[in-house]
Amino acid sequence: MKVKFGICSDTHADLVHDGPRRVQKFLEACQAEQVEFCVDLGDFCSPSPRNYEQKAQVKAMLEKLSVSWYHVLGNHDKNFDNTQGAVAYLGMPGNYYSFDFGGIHFVVLDTCYYQVGEEYQAFDCGNYMDAPPGIKIPVLPPEELSWLEKDLAGTNYPSVLFSHHSLIESRNHICNGEEVRKILANAPASVILAASGHEHRDWVKERDGIWYTCINSMTYFWAGHDHVHTSYGGELEEQYPILKKMFPYEEPLYAIVEIDEEKIKIKGTSTRIVGQQPADIHYEKTGIIHEISSAIADKELPLKKSGRIGCAELQASDSI
Ligand SMILES: [Fe+2]
Repeated sequence: MKVKFGICSDTHADLVHDGPRRVQKFLEACQAEQVEFCVDLGDFCSPSPRNYEQKAQVKAMLEKLSVSWYHVLGNHDKNFDNTQGAVAYLGMPGNYYSFDFGGIHFVVLDTCYYQVGEEYQAFDCGNYMDAPPGIKIPVLPPEELSWLEKDLAGTNYPSVLFSHHSLIESRNHICNGEEVRKILANAPASVILAASGHEHRDWVKERDGIWYTCINSMTYFWAGHDHVHTSYGGELEEQYPILKKMFPYEEPLYAIVEIDEEKIKIKGTSTRIVGQQPADIHYEKTGIIHEISSAIADKELPLKKSGRIGCAELQASDSI
């Protein structure tokens, strides 16, 4: 088993002035690394009439690529459209799907659902932002859980999972992660990695022989409406006022992932925050300043075979 792919998350190409430049730089790195495919973990570029020019540029880039892109749906991909529209815009085979590459089974999940009572509702035109209090959000609906169980039962290859929200406890994980992890534990072949985005953070954890990692945003850490400050200043901030509510990363963050029998190697990138830094605006008062990192750190996650096909018995060497 051997595969090499590029991965990025939370590009938000429509929110900032230089989204297409960031995507282009990621693609150039992927080309230089001769990756076999690219993965986007969601919140790529909201399909809507807003910022039409940037969307057209990004879409044109994707269309002329010879390398395959595997997209994952994020909450913001459904801010102005429904699941069907977002799937069509990104050219996905469905909102959840799987594929094989290099002796590895890859599974893409759609975690953009919430649960009210017994009802499951897909994120649709930003409805999740007005969802009633006390609901379970985000969540993997029963239909997708059953599909996942069957899909994993149908492969002899070790599996890698991609989802927008984390499947393990973090700042914003799915509410029924325990149910999902039970399915992963009972799969006939092992699950070796679950990569997620959404949090704009960089972490790796190990649980029951499976590595879980969060891929940092390509573009920024969200400061919030209560933390308006100067990033690029001048005209850019007038044109893109949202820049004042984020800590933008100067250069795009992404990673190149290589998996073989022995290990998962994540080669990351690092940059600096543009303009006022978190400490400059006393962001430490929020209690989350320590979670801000304008980097995806390099990681080497060992895989050790055991009884199950491709099963990993791992020691957490790089956990937070
Ligand atoms: Fe997100």
